[in-house]
Amino acid sequence: MNDRSSFGSKFGIIAAVGGSVVGLGNIWRFPYIAGENGGGAFILIYFLISLTIAVPIMLSEFSIGRRAMCNARRAFPKVSPGTKWGFIGYLGIATAFTIISFYSVIAGWSMEFFFKAVANGFSEQTPEQITSEFNAFTSDGWAPLIWTLVFVLTTAFVVKAGIEKGIERYSKIFMPTLGLIIIGLGIHSLTLPGAGEGLDFLLTPDFSKVTAKTFIQALGQSFFSLSLGMGTMITYGSYIKKKENMFKVAGTVAVADIAVAIISGIMIFPAVFSFGISPTQGPELVFITLPSIFSMMPGGYIISVVFFFLLFLAAITSSISIFEVLVSYVSEEMRMSRRKAVLLTTLAISFTGTLCVFSLTPDSAIAIGGQNLFDLCNLVSSDYMLPIGGLFIVIFTGWSMKKQVLYNELTSDGRFGTKLFKAFYLLVRFVIPVIISILFLSILGFI
Ligand code: PHE
Repeated sequence: MNDRSSFGSKFGIIAAVGGSVVGLGNIWRFPYIAGENGGGAFILIYFLISLTIAVPIMLSEFSIGRRAMCNARRAFPKVSPGTKWGFIGYLGIATAFTIISFYSVIAGWSMEFFFKAVANGFSEQTPEQITSEFNAFTSDGWAPLIWTLVFVLTTAFVVKAGIEKGIERYSKIFMPTLGLIIIGLGIHSLTLPGAGEGLDFLLTPDFSKVTAKTFIQALGQSFFSLSLGMGTMITYGSYIKKKENMFKVAGTVAVADIAVAIISGIMIFPAVFSFGISPTQGPELVFITLPSIFSMMPGGYIISVVFFFLLFLAAITSSISIFEVLVSYVSEEMRMSRRKAVLLTTLAISFTGTLCVFSLTPDSAIAIGGQNLFDLCNLVSSDYMLPIGGLFIVIFTGWSMKKQVLYNELTSDGRFGTKLFKAFYLLVRFVIPVIISILFLSILGFI
């Protein structure tokens, strides 16, 4: 497949991969998960897990993808012919669906909130008003549905334009914009009166709150945030040219991802403390707590507009990567043109997204075991599906792929990172599988 598309430049790769990893996971999810798990101690564990477990998995995914030069489903049998690992690809496709279904809903909320901010809709509202309006909006069904569909269509528009002319081109504009906005908002937050307390909460570790669950949540958050465990990086890896240094790409985006998560914390917690709000607000932190704060803050108008625009940018560059996993699968496995594959994927996601939207309406029957579909997708995807996918991916890399093939791919035939290979191989063969398995066994009550 010599005519396969690829990313055009080094900066393009970093922007596209960085666009995938930096998303709602950093700005919407990380702060409330860190808040619920005690702040500083969680962040320390998250940091360690990201560097020792997540980065090697990202390198494994890149190697599989670039070796196979095809979609995430076909990649496994292509790299190790005659083995039975193809199911990992199907698990990835299922996970991609699970994530994009609820992700588009939140991204839709960010669009609604952006326009509301532009119309000065938060000013002079009490926190109670903001809460009841948010609840009324999300439980309405139709209004969030329209935004979800607008978001899915916008994503489809970018993906349809292809790798270099679509994903890479837009990421190259969106990501630097996002970087500037987030740094600006972070600096502004540090000037607020309660900044010290917020930073203390974020950075001082309190180990009394750490349990096995903290580790699983940190693991899940790190997989979600770095887009790992479902084949996103296999798909993007298949568009990386052989001459590129994958260690550099993985290292850069991992550092950027952690930095954006921490800056998001810095952006949010000082404000939370300075207005006397509880840090453990859950998924609504960004949509209820923050607007309440914006309404009280000097300059809150402009900050709210910029913030929700940031949230939208972060969401779209990530959702295009999830979309691309599905589109490359559909177009290659069902032998369809890219156009048709995008259409089919859009229809399917619109359907599952609609189910998630309506699972939030009052007395909705779209629930399993008493939990609505939206919450279920959020929870199951990052705490179970991604880590399990990641576990299989490292086992595949460490035990099924031939060592020499892996070495050649990972190091670009001995050009980059050859000294790191030994440590990498040890991690993917033994250390990472053992750690993930122990965490799961302890969560399931076996240890
Ligand atoms: N990494 C993205 C975020 O942080 C979400 C994502 C998960 C994207 C899995 C692709 C695959 O928002």
